[in-house]
Amino acid sequence: MATPHIAAQPGDFAPDVLMPGDPLRARRIAKVLTDARLVTEVRGIAGFTGTWEGRPVSVLASGMGVPSISIYATELFRFYGVRRIVRIGTCGGIGPHLALGDVVVATAAHTDSAVTATRLPGVHYSHAPSFALAAAAVQAAHDEPGTTVHAGAVLTSDAFYSGESDLLTHLAARGTLAVEMEAAGLYATADVEHGEALALMTVSDLIGRDVEMSAAERETTFDRALRIALAALAA
Ligand code: HPA
Repeated sequence: MATPHIAAQPGDFAPDVLMPGDPLRARRIAKVLTDARLVTEVRGIAGFTGTWEGRPVSVLASGMGVPSISIYATELFRFYGVRRIVRIGTCGGIGPHLALGDVVVATAAHTDSAVTATRLPGVHYSHAPSFALAAAAVQAAHDEPGTTVHAGAVLTSDAFYSGESDLLTHLAARGTLAVEMEAAGLYATADVEHGEALALMTVSDLIGRDVEMSAAERETTFDRALRIALAALAA
């Protein structure tokens, strides 16, 4: 069996899938899992299934943006029996109290994406995660020494280069924590497909403040986010 974007057999994916944006991160996660095997590699988006502390876990990259994550999440939920997807990615902090390396648990995702905004005409759809996964991730982040975790809304934007706009200022004034490009698509897909989802991001840059993480900091904080995601799935 294959879908247009995944060439795996039924049963190849575990019910729980970790979803980084970057295919190289997926390979790196596979190295952390026990006995991970390659289950798909269409378009260079490699998927792996292994175990973590005895529990089966898969990993598949989402690519960038709502259209891409919506495709992969739909095919996993609909055709491969996947029940829970946790995105582990990065985001740009917009809240004034955020710092590089902080963890953001997206308990809501505003979006400018036409993919989800047009799904139900006349409705301003609320994009929200699985409460159980979000609560478990916040708890797991608290258990990681030296970690600051924020639970709140993010903006899922179709544009990485959004130009001059006051939009982020207005959203920050309303408590929005960060901007990224996938959470709302994942949450809307989980709703349609009766799955569970969570987006867990590390702050990799602070928008409007000219700072970003070093390569070494990215690796350390990524490993921490991975531990938090795995702990949330095991809770
Ligand atoms: N914008 C959108 N997505 C992101 C950003 C950003 O600044 N940083 C990390 N992911």
